[in-house]
Amino acid sequence: MTMPTRERLVRMVELACRAPSVHNSQPWLWRIAGEATVELYADRTRQLPIADPEGRNLAISCGAALQHAQEVARALGMSTRVDLTTSAPGHDLLARIQLGPARAPADAAERLQAIEQRCTDRRRFTSWPVPEARLTKLAEAASGWGAYAIPVTDVTARFRAELLLERAMTVQAADPGLTAEQASWVAHSRVDGVPASNAAPATSERGGERPNRFSHENTDNRGSRALEGSDGLMAICTGHDDQSSWLRAGQALGDLWLHAARDGLSIVPLSQVIEVPETRRGLHEDVFAGMAHPQLLLRVGWQEIARTTLPRTPRRQLEDVLLT
Ligand SMILES: Cc1cc2nc3c(=O)[nH]c(=O)nc-3n(C[C@H](O)[C@H](O)[C@H](O)COP(=O)(O)O)c2cc1C
Repeated sequence: MTMPTRERLVRMVELACRAPSVHNSQPWLWRIAGEATVELYADRTRQLPIADPEGRNLAISCGAALQHAQEVARALGMSTRVDLTTSAPGHDLLARIQLGPARAPADAAERLQAIEQRCTDRRRFTSWPVPEARLTKLAEAASGWGAYAIPVTDVTARFRAELLLERAMTVQAADPGLTAEQASWVAHSRVDGVPASNAAPATSERGGERPNRFSHENTDNRGSRALEGSDGLMAICTGHDDQSSWLRAGQALGDLWLHAARDGLSIVPLSQVIEVPETRRGLHEDVFAGMAHPQLLLRVGWQEIARTTLPRTPRRQLEDVLLT
């Protein structure tokens, strides 16, 4: 059994910050409250006012960081009990993590390595389609957080989702405020934002690249589709559409992504279709028949093995995110 110590709690926070976040905005703050409690706060100064006025992507990002904290705690030999504090939008204390003594799992090192290695690789995937069974397995791995992942494999549903995705990209490209906000997060600083190297990677040997939200200005990408036919497509959905659902969607995202990383699969979130109210409604009604609230679409596939690994995106200094 290992006991929670301040050193372990600090390490937990440090590694939890490797979690994905919208535009690498890292909209979280942490506080060690007592000997075995860590609190997670939203940092609203980092919310995207135009793309994310409700704070959905902010909460999803914080949920992913929360799940990463739980995963690290486990790997360091600590048990966790998590209380999500409130579902009121704008409430800044999001969760309280109570740590206890536990035994580290046999695969602890592998779990920690997945956190270090996970990244958003926007380069084109190989043409090997991801078998439906792999998507289903991934979706099952992410269940249990009060959110669920759904593979979008039905031909009609997929076609509709793709059209909505294209529509969202067109709507956002026509909004100068939004494109300026987005561009400002590319090469934003040495500690946050999306570095230019990760935003619009070089052309692959298959020719051309998938357009992504950060490469939109690249004229070579115009007119090409955001998804390849062989790309897997999944959605993270919730039963309700409030802040605690967004946090849970983020926890499911973090879990799914770490499973994918350990399985050699690459994940690229596609949040534009959720950010635009019209296309979010379209997904909810036309793709999920009004039964599930989609919180994030994910492109899933395999990266070419011979490719160089991308540089890791930067993170804020620990002293800037850990309140005393
Ligand atoms: C809620 C959320 C929404 C995101 N939306 C997009 C997106 O629409 N397009 C994209 O290329 N990446 C998207 N990302 C990925 C982030 O840009 C990425 O996690 C961040 O830049 C940090 O890089 P890393 O994942 O390599 O650590 C999103 C991530 C989160 C958590």
